[in-house]
Amino acid sequence: MSCALVTGGSRGIGNKVVRELIKSNAWILSTSASPTTIIFLSKNESSVTRAMVDLIAFQAKLTNGVNARYSGSKTLRLIGVTMDMSEFSTKKTPTTVLEWSTGLSDAKKVTYPSWKELFTKANHQSHAPVPFPSVVVQSHGITQEKLTLGYKSPLEILNIVNTNFTSTVMMNNFLVKKWVSQNIKNRRHSDSVPATAIADKKIIINISSILGTQPDLNLPGTAIYSATKSALWKYSEVFKKELQKYQDWLTIACYSPCLVTDTDMVKNLSKNNTQAADVSPKDYMKNLLISKSDGAGAGAGIGGDSFQSKKDITDSPKYNEHFAHSKLETKTSDQVAKEIMDLIESAYKH
Ligand SMILES: NC(=O)c1ccc[n+]([C@@H]2O[C@H](COP(=O)([O-])OP(=O)(O)OC[C@H]3O[C@@H](n4cnc5c(N)ncnc54)[C@H](OP(=O)(O)O)[C@@H]3O)[C@@H](O)[C@H]2O)c1
Repeated sequence: MSCALVTGGSRGIGNKVVRELIKSNAWILSTSASPTTIIFLSKNESSVTRAMVDLIAFQAKLTNGVNARYSGSKTLRLIGVTMDMSEFSTKKTPTTVLEWSTGLSDAKKVTYPSWKELFTKANHQSHAPVPFPSVVVQSHGITQEKLTLGYKSPLEILNIVNTNFTSTVMMNNFLVKKWVSQNIKNRRHSDSVPATAIADKKIIINISSILGTQPDLNLPGTAIYSATKSALWKYSEVFKKELQKYQDWLTIACYSPCLVTDTDMVKNLSKNNTQAADVSPKDYMKNLLISKSDGAGAGAGIGGDSFQSKKDITDSPKYNEHFAHSKLETKTSDQVAKEIMDLIESAYKH
């Protein structure tokens, strides 16, 4: 892999995935001598700027520390893109693009006319075009700010739908179309192209939520959000089927995290919805766990039949092997990011 894209990479789960990529796999999985590029995309400029500063500091600490898996000798290029995914279009101009690579003390602001041209045109400061990503984690998302009855305008609802669902579909279409055309071109010239280039793996991991994938988990105050996450899961399954003929090199995965307590999303959910819904997400989960363990499925694992453990995932038929949803439990964003990295590694090995 020479380039990874993480949407929602400024905060929460996405940011932890970016850190994991910097820490290990981006370096391990890369077979080429070219620099590794990690693009993180988020909505707000201030958020991208802050994340860039933190990530540069994080990388510096790794280089200075003793980390057997980390090869600091290889150039790392970090690109922070500010773009509102709720209005995603390949022709859209990213508000700000920050670029940093090994050796620079801080990031520089660069400009690209459109998202598409980020990958085809050198910017006006004569930087090389950004490599097209091979590994993509779509972690951007928003939750509800109030109880569902409080949504009075279709636009407010569409904002959640477009951010969580439509944008993911649009971005995936953009990526897969490009990959397929690249692959056809490579095969056409297969005599002159090394086998590794033809077999270069492409991986998309869409991030759903346990709130959208566990049938009996119905947290008050999340009806619209949960519906977008159910849609994302189902969409990913069918999309994977549509692209089955490319399965040798293309993995479409969907990961559905449990409640991740150290994220802004859960903190905001508690703040905005608890009072109105009369139950906090944490208490709701606790009550659900108690009622589950009282029921017939007690001892069989919380989440019952619908829970797929990691082992279940690898043992299940090929079609389902990259679809994973969590147990009813809470985790930290570090733990969840590591699970997402496991999915990436398993897609590489398959
Ligand atoms: N937290 C949980 O418990 C949990 C559980 C299950 C699933 N998930 C899912 O996991 C993903 C990450 O959640 P999180 O908890 O890490 O969220 P978070 O901490 O609230 O971070 C959300 C990220 O998405 C970005 N984002 C939001 N709206 C965007 C837009 N319109 N355009 C571009 N970027 C946008 C944010 O950018 P800014 O920083 O610029 O705002 C931020 O980087 C989401 O899809 C969420 O639904 C979360």
